[in-house]
Amino acid sequence: MKMKWLVCFATLLLFTVALISPRLSQPVQANPDPAPIVHQVDQSKYAGSKVCAKCHTTYYDTWKDSAHNKMIRPAIFRGRNKNVQADFSVADPNRPCEMKDVKWVIGHRWKQRFIGVVNGEEVVFPGQWSIKEKKWQSYTAKSDWWYPKHPDWKTRSNFNLCAGCHSTGVDPKAKTWTEQNITCESCHGPGKAHSDKPAIQNIVNPSRLSTERSMDVCLSCHQAGKPDAEEFAWPVGFQPGQKLADYWHGFEPEAGKQTAEFWTNGTAHKNRVQGNTFSHSKMHGAGIQCSNCHDSHGSKFTSMTLKAPSTNALCNTCHGPGKSVGPDYKSITDHTHHAVSSTGSQCISCHMPKTGENSVGAEARDHTFNFISPKISIGKKTPNSCNLCHSDKTPEWALEQVQKWYPKLR
Ligand code: HEC
Ligand code: HEC
Ligand code: HEC
Ligand code: HEC
Ligand code: HEC
Ligand code: HEC
Ligand code: HEC
Ligand code: HEC
Repeated sequence: MKMKWLVCFATLLLFTVALISPRLSQPVQANPDPAPIVHQVDQSKYAGSKVCAKCHTTYYDTWKDSAHNKMIRPAIFRGRNKNVQADFSVADPNRPCEMKDVKWVIGHRWKQRFIGVVNGEEVVFPGQWSIKEKKWQSYTAKSDWWYPKHPDWKTRSNFNLCAGCHSTGVDPKAKTWTEQNITCESCHGPGKAHSDKPAIQNIVNPSRLSTERSMDVCLSCHQAGKPDAEEFAWPVGFQPGQKLADYWHGFEPEAGKQTAEFWTNGTAHKNRVQGNTFSHSKMHGAGIQCSNCHDSHGSKFTSMTLKAPSTNALCNTCHGPGKSVGPDYKSITDHTHHAVSSTGSQCISCHMPKTGENSVGAEARDHTFNFISPKISIGKKTPNSCNLCHSDKTPEWALEQVQKWYPKLR
């Protein structure tokens, strides 16, 4: 009798654990390419993030202040809610329009571009404000693959060329969206059915997808590439949970060739190639993904990292002495050859140098995580892990140090 009770109790306990801990009841690892849970999700209708906020207050509150919610906004030029950093009062040949012409301001961190209505269509003006330089720059779009189709900026439709990555629920034909910015439903899929009758089965949770499908959510915006239908510059039709490759072909580096996206060694030449470069990293090969380092719902750190990169806390979640992925050292200086307190001792200084151009050169961090030897820069413009800081020294100088410090490095 007692035994029966025990079994009964144990079953009940297991059942409860399974209920409250969905991660245990649905092993994600077992199926490398699971889709069943996604196919059950009703993705026909959007609810809007304000609806999600009713039940998921904490996520909403942090996301609300994150970069993802500051991408495209009605332009406000003055006052407390001012969001336009550009100076429209200066007479500058690169200032593309007047204040009154601006409907939307895009961006808040590196650069701002502007959208207005021309001939009944929302188009992007051909000038941008560099936040770092605090000045107007020309924005020709010459390095974009679609440039030959749109040499005239008046044909650069927001809905065809941009909106899918900056807004939610975009229909490029009807020229509508359900909500501006990168919202809950950009990453979780349309959530009306879930909001009406909450269950884990009727919403996409990236952490239950395979690593590839989960990363596809981020890559649908953070990977330079193009779709089959060249009318659009974003993956029209893709929804979280689906396979991005069915909608979008990410650009790949070609050995020895410099392109708009990559330096000759495959490192980031511009912004927005995090997906393209990270896919080639050893870490990605080991199953690490974007959300191992970034909090999609916003964090108190720059670039929404889970922990501070400046103190090495982020990288040392997994790295450091005694951890299987190394590096092994008694003091950090053994590995970095810089004083503990030096910026030269931050992991990201050497493993994520700012090789990419954004509004100015050397602004976007490389996501291959490779140490880039100064050797690559001899006689070439390709940047390396040392001379972006030691810009007054030659790559030959840096290479000599590196060969002394890291004799095992080829
Ligand atoms: C009426 C309340 C309610 C609303 C509105 C709501 N949710 Fe939920 N959500 C829940 C509950 C309750 C759960 C947990 C369900 C469970 O454990 O069975 C949940 C779970 C989730 C999960 C985790 C699923 C999993 O696999 O573990 C995600 C992601 C999620 N919701 C996103 C959203 C998004 C996005 C919206 C807005 C489109 C939204 N929710 C709106 C109540 C709500
Ligand atoms: C395939 C998705 C995609 C398309 C298409 C796209 N963008 Fe973006 N854009 C992004 C992502 C992702 C970022 C942020 C990542 C980064 O900058 O490295 C970004 C960043 C930006 C920024 C800088 C934001 C800031 O805070 O400084 C501006 C401005 C911008 N995009 C404008 C445009 C315009 C204008 C178009 C259309 C001509 C466009 N984008 C098309 C995905 C896209
Ligand atoms: C940029 C993409 C992105 C956006 C935007 C986003 N999420 Fe998420 N969300 C994720 C990812 C990735 C996960 C799984 C990994 C994690 O927890 O970070 C997740 C997990 C969740 C979960 C499940 C947490 C758990 O315990 O498994 C809930 C609930 C959720 N998000 C709600 C929301 C709500 C509500 C919003 C809008 C306010 C939102 N998310 C916006 C990407 C996003
Ligand atoms: C629908 C498009 C879209 C999706 C999906 C998306 N992002 Fe973004 N992301 C953007 C854009 C656009 C920006 C630039 C926002 C800005 O500067 O205002 C951005 C900015 C960022 C930033 C920089 C934040 C900062 O503080 O400057 C990080 C980190 C990031 N995204 C990570 C992710 C991760 C991780 C995922 C997947 C879980 C993801 N994003 C999914 C479009 C997207
Ligand atoms: C969630 C765990 C995790 C985090 C966080 C993490 N790493 Fe890694 N990293 C790994 C794993 C696992 C490997 C091992 C890959 C292998 O050897 O197969 C690795 C490998 C590496 C390598 C070696 C690549 C090579 O070519 O040998 C470098 C460099 C690296 N990580 C740098 C970083 C930096 C810099 C950070 C912080 C910005 C970081 N990692 C954060 C898990 C992590
Ligand atoms: C001053 C530059 C520099 C800094 C800072 C730096 N590294 Fe490295 N790291 C290197 C070089 C050079 C190599 C050798 C490259 C190779 O073998 O491919 C390397 C190799 C590695 C490797 C792979 C080989 C191994 O020893 O296991 C990992 C993992 C790694 N570093 C992680 C880190 C972490 C984590 C930090 C921060 C605590 C960091 N590095 C800081 C220059 C640096
Ligand atoms: C191993 C950790 C790690 C992984 C994995 C990772 N990132 Fe990052 N990411 C960082 C760090 C660290 C920064 C820079 C933070 C800083 O400058 O304070 C960064 C910066 C960024 C930025 C800001 C733009 C820039 O150039 O600085 C974006 C956007 C971004 N990551 C997106 C992604 C996306 C998308 C993925 C997946 C494809 C990803 N990251 C994978 C650590 C990581
Ligand atoms: C993030 C910036 C940064 C990076 C990246 C960096 N350093 Fe340094 N380095 C410094 C600073 C700051 C100092 C000044 C002394 C200190 O704080 O350790 C320094 C000092 C030095 C010194 C001794 C002083 C001198 O100028 O003669 C050498 C040699 C040196 N670095 C070589 C390198 C090499 C080689 C690399 C690439 C493996 C490298 N550094 C990467 C910032 C950096």
